[in-house]
Amino acid sequence: MSDWVHVADLADLARRKKKLVTAGATSIALFLDDGEVFAFQDSCVHKGRPLSRGTLLNGRVICPGHQWAFDLRTGQADDRPECQPGFPVRVADGRIWVRTEPAAPAATAAAQPVPSRAPQTAVQPVQHVQHVQPVQPVQE
Ligand code: FES
Repeated sequence: MSDWVHVADLADLARRKKKLVTAGATSIALFLDDGEVFAFQDSCVHKGRPLSRGTLLNGRVICPGHQWAFDLRTGQADDRPECQPGFPVRVADGRIWVRTEPAAPAATAAAQPVPSRAPQTAVQPVQHVQHVQPVQPVQE
């Protein structure tokens, strides 16, 4: 299990709302949207372009490679089965912490002790969900 790593301060995201950081050998794209911080693997799941150079739009990040749009809250690509891997994020006292192991199922995560130096607030686990198509009304 990896520890929580302080990767940036909230002030670092204030102007551009995105930032490339590293935790050990892992490159992480940070995004700030509507007051929440999100962390994703920087290398796009499609062809590896840097997601940290993407564009934020309506709760999504648009990859600069081929314009796939990933939901910031789930990592799910619009209209595609792929999901961008993300990391758990915590923010406290203006400091951003990331854990570089993939988000664990809730039962497993609850059993993991939190280091005393890590903040105890604002956990943002990344969930991978399937798109649900809206039901069309039947025309008679
Ligand atoms: S590399 Fe990201 S959409 Fe193709």
